Amino acid sequence: MSPGTTAQRSTAVIGLQWGDEGKGKIVDLLAEQHDVVVRYNGGANAGHSVVVDGERFSLHLLPSGILRPGVHSVIANGVVIDPDQLLSELDSLRSRGIEPGPLAVSDRAHVVMPYHKAEDAVRETVLSEGGGGASLGTTGRGIGPAYAEKVQRGSAVRVGDLLRPEVLGRRIRTAIELKRPLFEAFAAHVSGEAWDVDTVVRQARSWGEQLAPHVADTRRLLQDAVASDRRVLFEGANATLLDIDHGTFPFVTSSSPSVHGIGTGTGLPPSAIESVIGISKAYQTRVGAGPMPTELRDATGDAIRERGREYGTTTGRPRRCGWLDLVALRYAAEINSVDTIALMLLDVLAGFDELKLCTSYRIDGVTTDVFVPDTSALEEARPVYTTLEGFSQDVTSSRLADDLPANALAYVSFVSDYVGVPISIVSVGPDRDQTIALGGEALR
Ligand code: GDP
Ligand code: IMO
Ligand code: MG
Repeated sequence: MSPGTTAQRSTAVIGLQWGDEGKGKIVDLLAEQHDVVVRYNGGANAGHSVVVDGERFSLHLLPSGILRPGVHSVIANGVVIDPDQLLSELDSLRSRGIEPGPLAVSDRAHVVMPYHKAEDAVRETVLSEGGGGASLGTTGRGIGPAYAEKVQRGSAVRVGDLLRPEVLGRRIRTAIELKRPLFEAFAAHVSGEAWDVDTVVRQARSWGEQLAPHVADTRRLLQDAVASDRRVLFEGANATLLDIDHGTFPFVTSSSPSVHGIGTGTGLPPSAIESVIGISKAYQTRVGAGPMPTELRDATGDAIRERGREYGTTTGRPRRCGWLDLVALRYAAEINSVDTIALMLLDVLAGFDELKLCTSYRIDGVTTDVFVPDTSALEEARPVYTTLEGFSQDVTSSRLADDLPANALAYVSFVSDYVGVPISIVSVGPDRDQTIALGGEALR
């Protein structure tokens, strides 16, 4: 396929909702036209599915270009890396007969340690019990504690430190000493191994030995790639509404999944990003806690969940489902200055008599179409819908815009007009070929 305006350029693929928009599928598709695919944020909280000829791959840390021969994969400094997870993903690909291409891992990326995962679990327990059920619903992958350790500095372990035994032992000992009171207080929730200094140091040294061939100065590598006109594809993990600064705080992740994370997460200047493609489902989902104005806790929400197989790639949790929230989508498109949108999972909407689109909110008696990422206001927000006629035809075999029923096209046009951004791709199934390229301006 030729994905419209994004061909032949360095491109950022960014989730515009609360995650799981189908970024993995689009990165895999676009990787064919890029030389390097880079993860710049998040960690193994991401779960990106790529389906090739009916075979499904779930990637958490490896960039989704890894399935394309010849593409270089980079895990840049902004990512927090759980080495066990990374090594097991590499092994799993090999056991399925796929030899991963070149992989570079930043020496400056931070390491998710066993005590970060333990701390994640303890914090969720405390927030849930002590905070009146206010846990965040994290993925339990240690993401928040690992980024906190990074910001606190002195006790953090970076990938480069895994190769420096003296530094490594000191950092791990310090981190565990600082966390000891917490772990002692919640010993029932935490495995002793997670905060036993000798065990963790041994494990970390072994990670260093295994990762050593991949460790690199990825900023330099990427800078050279850009300077020599190699095309770089930036793979956002998590999504804009989960952004630590611009998302629905505190129900967010601990990194910057939006386009703004690319600069700090790679060290490249903004000029390295030539095109931004925003990824959105044709409806709304969220996994974990936090406001979601269009959530449907009824048979329609259940029908979307079942048809879309809306269960988490990372945790298996059922995703909360609802109608597409255009107020939030326009905000996310604006934050990222997206050039085009890929509208995913349109096939899931086939069979509903009518399709609703949230075009404004009523908050405290006031109607607004401006999204403010303020959790208290969003919890009060009542969606105001525009209703369009549904389409009954199965669209999973559609390959051209002309194959789509008129009502499906009208739905896509409505979204594009509201957000003010062309829709360049419509996805009608998980497989690579279940993709309709609309060629940039086609629907506007
Ligand atoms: P990501 O985190 O943004 O990469 O998305 P996930 O992989 O977590 O979730 C998206 C899910 O939707 C995966 O199971 C994909 O295989 C699937 N998917 C992607 N595009 C489509 C589509 O157009 N239609 C359907 N039915 N499924 C899709
Ligand atoms: P991908 O890349 C969906 C959500 C979690 C939780 C919150 C904080 O697959 O789209 P964390 O473990 O990051 O501290 O959890 O963020 N979350 C995601 N939800 N898709 C993701 O990634 C997510 N990454 C984090 O469910 O609500
Ligand atoms: Mg996902």
